Amino acid sequence: MSQQDYATLNRTNDKMPLCGFGCWKVENNIAEQLIYDAIKAGYRLFDGACDYGNEVEIGKGIARAIKDGLVKREDLFVVTKLWNTYHNKNHVRDAFEKQRKELGLDYIDLYIIHFPVPLKYVAPDQAYPPGWYPPSGPQKLEFERSPMYECWAEMERLVDDGLTRNIGISNFNVQAILDLLTYCKYKPATLQVEIHPYLQQKRLVEWVQEQGIQITAYSSFGPGSYIALTNDGKTASPLFEHDIIKSIGQKKGKTPAQVLLRWAIERKLAVIPKSNHEERMKLNRDLFSWSLDNEDKKQIDGLEKGLRFNGKRIVS
Ligand SMILES: NC(=O)c1ccc[n+]([C@@H]2O[C@H](COP(=O)([O-])OP(=O)(O)OC[C@H]3O[C@@H](n4cnc5c(N)ncnc54)[C@H](OP(=O)(O)O)[C@@H]3O)[C@@H](O)[C@H]2O)c1
Repeated sequence: MSQQDYATLNRTNDKMPLCGFGCWKVENNIAEQLIYDAIKAGYRLFDGACDYGNEVEIGKGIARAIKDGLVKREDLFVVTKLWNTYHNKNHVRDAFEKQRKELGLDYIDLYIIHFPVPLKYVAPDQAYPPGWYPPSGPQKLEFERSPMYECWAEMERLVDDGLTRNIGISNFNVQAILDLLTYCKYKPATLQVEIHPYLQQKRLVEWVQEQGIQITAYSSFGPGSYIALTNDGKTASPLFEHDIIKSIGQKKGKTPAQVLLRWAIERKLAVIPKSNHEERMKLNRDLFSWSLDNEDKKQIDGLEKGLRFNGKRIVS
């Protein structure tokens, strides 16, 4: 039994792999080799961002894999994201072009607005990546009066100019998407949001899927990814050690990580796990030749806690 491992995106009909490799917190000194190894392990989608500060090294890993004949450019699906300080219509193009050049690519497969949060412009020679707060002064968010319809029109121009094949959004809620759908020329191909058993986002998922927008779940393992950043990760027991997840894994002969990723795949979500370890990297992709039982899914559905780990930093 082997299941379809890609989603077909609206407008372009591009095939987006349902399991990609996340590039957040991939250290610069290992990024090139890790991306190369991930390609060797079969990953074809890479989820990056300006904010991750590692696009030069990711680009090198991709270039080396292509040069060594592991893949062709057209076999890969490269995703990256517009940072908040570049939402202004005068900065979207330059920000995109800097990222495209750092990645060393002729085109991007999917360019995403990272957060629906326009922040005051920071020139790249002041700070890059700029992060959430101004480079000098108090650690306080400085918003910019830059409307989303202008930002989105610039994203659409990148499509028209053949620089990115698809455009998408991240961390938008239903209201923000509904508004975008009232004026867009091209609707978003994808929405990337935090989803795991402690934050299942059922109503959002149902509504967004009805709009023909593919959802990518990030932080599929829940709190684990956030412990190093804040204390938030400690407010719920680690999903890898949860009895329900462990016992389903034991029954199926799979790791807890695979159970969590497969649960997302069965909801027709794409996933983008990150791992520095080769063995985990390989197992995290083994999601399409087995399935969860209905009672397993019911048990996992029962873990909902409305617990969001990413985002608290915005308001703290
Ligand atoms: N759009 C957004 O705002 C947003 C926000 C957050 C994340 N993302 C994207 O989503 C991707 C994934 O989310 P995430 O970074 O939160 O991380 P994640 O993939 O949910 O979790 C990564 C953590 O899990 C560990 N891990 C991975 N596979 C494992 C396994 N099989 N067994 C045990 N531990 C395992 C990793 O450790 P090791 O590396 O040591 O294996 C790492 O500590 C990011 O890389 C990024 O591309 C997007």
